[in-house]
Amino acid sequence: MVMSVRMAPPLPLIFLLVIHWVSGADWNVSYSPLHICALKNSSVIMSCTYKYPTGHQIMKVYWTKNPVKSEETPDLSEDPEYSQRLQYLGDKQQNCTIRLSHVTQKDSHKYYFRFRTNIDQWIGKPGVTLTVTDLQVEAPERVTEGHNVSLTCKSSCTLTDRATFIWYRNSQPLTERRDGNNQLLLQSVRREDAGRYSCALHGHSYISPAARLSVTCEY
Ligand SMILES: *[C@@H]1O[C@H](CO)[C@@H](O)[C@H](O)[C@H]1NC(C)=O
Ligand SMILES: *[C@@H]1O[C@H](CO)[C@@H](O)[C@H](O)[C@H]1NC(C)=O
Ligand SMILES: *[C@@H]1O[C@H](CO)[C@@H](O)[C@H](O)[C@H]1NC(C)=O
Ligand SMILES: *[C@@H]1O[C@H](CO)[C@@H](O)[C@H](O)[C@H]1NC(C)=O
Repeated sequence: MVMSVRMAPPLPLIFLLVIHWVSGADWNVSYSPLHICALKNSSVIMSCTYKYPTGHQIMKVYWTKNPVKSEETPDLSEDPEYSQRLQYLGDKQQNCTIRLSHVTQKDSHKYYFRFRTNIDQWIGKPGVTLTVTDLQVEAPERVTEGHNVSLTCKSSCTLTDRATFIWYRNSQPLTERRDGNNQLLLQSVRREDAGRYSCALHGHSYISPAARLSVTCEY
């Protein structure tokens, strides 16, 4: 009798283990992709799906950024800096996708989907990391007539591989051949090549600040 009491595993411990195992499997938020590099002023889709135990009822779904403590997770749709630009495209079942438009460099943060059921709540770690970049033209200040020069359209993070760069000289689009994706190669430069160069991404309104290229005479 005494033996059997001692052998019996403590019931609350089993209960806790079961709860833990069940919740680990039943609660889930997953983001795809986890890192987003976006061009200034563009719209960003943060794709997200979530799961919770059957029997729970969703009370609230929302997104938050950079939580310091679990209590301090404000709803971004109530933040004046976001409310006009944030659109929840998901639902109250399993899709938690949002769109954030007109992104600025100040939006570079980690974003988390968070939801509350009638029983418990969950925050989707590790969150989505958004990096917002501008574009900068990297070019020598001057080049000698007859030489080749390569201009680079720089971003602070790697934009999608599908990105097509557009170049402008004195605000006029150029048709010169591109050398590599984000580079413009000017071969055997002439005086007419001097000017203010800027770059942009096809399909986006943002245009980089201009960089001035001077062409100096060979003699
Ligand atoms: C959450 O869901 C994703 C995608 O369905 C899966 O890859 C991941 O392993 C899940 N995580 C947990 C803790 O169940
Ligand atoms: C979630 O909703 C968005 C917007 O309606 C849709 O484009 C996307 O395909 C949905 N994702 C899933 C996994 O259902
Ligand atoms: C410029 O580039 C072309 C093509 O790559 C090459 O044939 C030529 O020698 C280059 N000229 C100079 C001055 O480097
Ligand atoms: C931002 O994008 C909108 C269109 O989405 C465009 O009308 C506006 O001119 C853009 N602003 C800048 C500064 O590029």
